[in-house]
Parts: sequence; structure tokens; C-alpha cells
Amino acid sequence: MTSSAPPPGRGRVTAVALRRMKARGERIVMLTAYDYPSARLFDAAGVDVLLVGDSLGMVVLGHESTIPVTMDDMVHHTKAVARGTRRALVVADLPFMSYSLGREQALANAARLIQEGGAQAVKLEGGEPVARTVEAIVESGIPVMGHLGLTPQSIHRFGGYPVQGRDRTTAQRLLEDARALEAAGAFALVLELVPAALAQRITAALQIPTIGIGAGPHCDGQVQVMHDLLGYGPVDAFVPKHAKRFANLGPIIAEAVGRYAAEVRAGTFPGEDQSFTMDERVLESLEEV
Ligand code: KIV
Repeated sequence: MTSSAPPPGRGRVTAVALRRMKARGERIVMLTAYDYPSARLFDAAGVDVLLVGDSLGMVVLGHESTIPVTMDDMVHHTKAVARGTRRALVVADLPFMSYSLGREQALANAARLIQEGGAQAVKLEGGEPVARTVEAIVESGIPVMGHLGLTPQSIHRFGGYPVQGRDRTTAQRLLEDARALEAAGAFALVLELVPAALAQRITAALQIPTIGIGAGPHCDGQVQVMHDLLGYGPVDAFVPKHAKRFANLGPIIAEAVGRYAAEVRAGTFPGEDQSFTMDERVLESLEEV
């Protein structure tokens, strides 16, 4: 573990602690998690922030994008992650259109993720246009993480997953959006698919930490989707350029399940070790039916 945030069992990482980590130059480790076992494993491994991302729409539920993800989906998965976490800060995504219909809707849905889901913070996508919403949620006592750059909920507007902020106009807009979110009270900011040099510039301009995904090494922290990192999924799954395979679980799982199937078919599993005994006299005493 590289962070000086409290070790497991000694208290939870907080939104405030992340800001102190930035001030001390300590890198923040964030990873997505969507269920109880992954939360238990990643929490014990010392991940600082567990993100219940709406990416679950694709990597867990098999949708093509994050658009179909509902509040009920998010609450369901957030509950499981919260139950598996003792130390990491749990941040849950507000899904598509769950904060765009006005202040009341945004507050009610943010409250659900905290009260029902058990998260300690929420994340939402967008810059200056969502700053008032961020402010309202923060004022209600809920820490908010922003998300700029490639914001997957706007996939239909972007027409794909292009790198953001490569020209002067869009780079300037990203810088202004980042400042607007900080001024609105966001405690941290995800920068997704942004050129490394621009992410560095934004990081230097803010007091709050930036967490990069495809935004180079100069952000205050990094986040990845667990399936990309662990190769957990179809063996031919696409690996984004920004991700690195630290393990390749897909082929390991496929091989293990293949052996299981072969042993069931051959009648060699279960064997004696996996079976239970009983008193033979009881068996003999049974009447034919
Ligand atoms: O939903 C998600 O997993 C995310 C990360 C890509 C930052 O928002």
C-alpha cells in the first residue's frame, strides 16, 4: 500500500482526506467495483476509493453503453459494494438523466445513493452547466465528485469515445469547467480521455484532486475499470489504450470452467472428497417405495 490514508480497520478514507493527499503529493488509487467480493478484495488491497461506476451497464449488465443504467441498478450494486468495504471511500455514479431534470430530482437521487446504497459520495458528469446542481447536492451534505473530458453519458453527442480537449477552444472550456466544479464545491474531479499535458495543467490549476483515466501520469490519482485491469470478461474483450492488464482472469476462468465441465461429464467430479457419508445401517433400514 502506498497511500498514507488510514489502514483497514482504522477508519474510512474521506472526501476531505483526498484533498490532504493531494496537498502532500500522495497519489490516489481509485478502482471500480460492482459487487461484494470485488469490494472486499480491493478494499483489503488498499484501494483508496471504490467507484460504483455506471460502467456497470456495460461490464456487468451487458448493455452497449451507460445510457440504460437506472437508479435502481445503481442502488442495488452500491449496496453490495458498501457492504464489502471498511476503509475505502465509496463513490456511486448518478446515472444518465438522474440529475438533469432539476434540483429536486438531483437531490432525491443523490440521497438514495447515500441513504439506501450506503455510498459516502456521488459522482456526476459535466462542467459549468451542472455546477448549480453540484452546489445544491454539496449544500445538502453529500460530497460530489465531478467528471470531465469524455463523459460516457454523452456518447450520442460525441458520436463515440474521442479524446477531448485537443484544440484550443475545447481545452480552454475544460479548464473553465474544472474551475467551475471546484468553485461549486466538488471534492475531486475525474478527467477521462484528456491529453496528458492538458490534464497536468488542470491538475496544477486546482486545489482539489484530479483522478485520471486516459489522462496521463500527472493527475493526482488514477481510476480504471476493474474488468480492463483484470481481464475479467470475454477472452476477446477490447482493451482500451489507457488500460493495462495487471492480470488476465478471462482465460484462467475459461480454462477452470472447461475442466469442471469435463470432470462432470466424465463422472470424476464430485469425488469422495466433495461427498458426504451416512451411517450404512440407516441406509439398509430404508423400505423400498
Ligand atoms: O462509470 C465509470 O466506471 C466511470 C469511470 C470510467 C471513471 O465513470
